Amino acid sequence: MKHALIAALIGTSTLLASGSVLAQAKPEDVIKYRKSVYTVAAWHMRPLGAMVKGQMPFDQAVFLKNAEMVADIASVAPEAFAPGSDKGAETRAKPEIWSDAAGFKKVMDNFQAETAKLVQVARTAKDVDAVRGQFSAVAKSCGACHDSYRVK
Ligand code: HEC
Repeated sequence: MKHALIAALIGTSTLLASGSVLAQAKPEDVIKYRKSVYTVAAWHMRPLGAMVKGQMPFDQAVFLKNAEMVADIASVAPEAFAPGSDKGAETRAKPEIWSDAAGFKKVMDNFQAETAKLVQVARTAKDVDAVRGQFSAVAKSCGACHDSYRVK
């Protein structure tokens, strides 16, 4: 369902396919998907950040919905790094993503774990203080990957 939605948004039917078929998708389509998933993740981080910074009133339902979106994106993010997608279109993905697959898996696993934990704490959060620490852990997990695996 979510794949179909994202596919419709970026206009490529290859994304309707299963993960294994995705691995054979054209590199330029994978790169397009990669930029799209992170664009969507960043979009849903915005209201979370605004609430944590006090720029927007804390609304538990809105916080949870956006945290779930970020966690869902994290769960599909590995598909955005299919082998062969290191080139084929303009990309800031570093070659180390594929040459240091174990190191990359660590930051990806951490991203998935921290975003899943944010959903957990958001479920029962009564105020913004309950989510502040875990939001910052998620933001750090974004930065940790960018520092090592994304061209500045
Ligand atoms: C496991 C690694 C990893 C994690 C975790 C990660 N990113 Fe990224 N991000 C990348 C890479 C690699 C690129 C470059 C994609 C490309 O150019 O092909 C990128 C690109 C982006 C872009 C630019 C997209 C574009 O249009 O070019 C944004 C915005 C972004 N990330 C935001 C985030 C946010 C927000 C988070 C956390 C919620 C996050 N990223 C977590 C690796 C990661």
